[in-house]
Amino acid sequence: MKGLILSGGKGTRLRPLTYTSAKQLVPVANKPVLFFGIESIVAAGITEIGIIVGDTKDEIRAAVGDGSQFGARCTYIEQEAPLGLAHAVKIAKDFLQDDPFVMYLGDNLIAGGIRSLVDEFRESTANAQILLAEVANPQQFGVAELSADGTMVKKLEEKPPQPKTNLALVGVYMFDKTIWESVERIEPSARGELEITDAIQDLIDRGLEVHPHKVRGWWKDTGKLADMLEANRIMLDSADLHRQHSEVGTHSRIEGRVQLGENVTLVNSLVRGPSVIGDDVRLENVFVGPYSSIGNRCVLSSCEIENSIILADSEIADLPARVDGSLVGRGVKIRRSDAKPKAYRFMLGDNSEVSVG
Ligand code: DAU
Repeated sequence: MKGLILSGGKGTRLRPLTYTSAKQLVPVANKPVLFFGIESIVAAGITEIGIIVGDTKDEIRAAVGDGSQFGARCTYIEQEAPLGLAHAVKIAKDFLQDDPFVMYLGDNLIAGGIRSLVDEFRESTANAQILLAEVANPQQFGVAELSADGTMVKKLEEKPPQPKTNLALVGVYMFDKTIWESVERIEPSARGELEITDAIQDLIDRGLEVHPHKVRGWWKDTGKLADMLEANRIMLDSADLHRQHSEVGTHSRIEGRVQLGENVTLVNSLVRGPSVIGDDVRLENVFVGPYSSIGNRCVLSSCEIENSIILADSEIADLPARVDGSLVGRGVKIRRSDAKPKAYRFMLGDNSEVSVG
């Protein structure tokens, strides 16, 4: 079996971060979302992985490389524009050939990995297997209707305004070679994309077997700020956090599960877990509260941060109120100006500079 990870697309809902960077590389618990996907595919015993890339191809390539850091072999497949998930499958034909494959959307996170799901598909007679999760906002997803006994998929609709069920398609799909005919038969949708949802509906219409599998654990499509923060909280809760080589100075304290990177300097600071602090970070007169992920080389002084993701090389200083529920890009500088705001909620692009007034 092979793997196909989709890491192209535009990431409009995470702008401004995604003006300059790939959405799949935004980290949760200091690890790019995409890496969790690659790791789950490898853990399912699949090491030949094709990665669909678009405008952000150089950045994705630089981060993932040839895949050897994950024990995989990665092949990059360039998509000229985000023309849809089924378009991405189409252009991967030379790579996938007639092998069955698992397709993984590079911005999705699934607890507990996909090993048992891949095994279930390998052992079944199904032509395709889809994952479903109950959601409160099904109109934002592909939505499935099942047969009365729940064992077969009857109908799929992409982002229907009036969903018939609350069963959303999760971004992990398994296919055999029968998908090739279906991706050729479908037409672009109203939003101009070749939808994988329509290709799977075509499998059903051709009388082929599409098995549903309900996801029991949590799952996140990390396309939006609130979802990124929730994914960060969940990952920090379940991560095996361990301290590396940094020393805690006499006037500083660590409480709870905290991962400190190498060469972290703490001066008169308190870090409360679950949190991760990257390498070469300096914290002076700082409180880092639960559910914070602070990237490499950040410099924080006289401020309080909680429940936030701060990317590498950012500087935050002298803030009179706590930073909460924020996602801060790379190389951002935030410092106090003269007025007194009570709270900060930021979503800042890479290299932004902010003086709070
Ligand atoms: O997250 C699950 C949902 O993913 C499903 O419920 C929907 O049925 C499915 O269509 C998809 O919806 P989204 O609108 O969330 O897909 P998005 O455009 O965010 O793309 C998902 C990933 O695939 C993302 O990492 C970008 C990548 N992509 C997307 C397109 C359209 C590509 O690599 N190429 C593309 O052409």
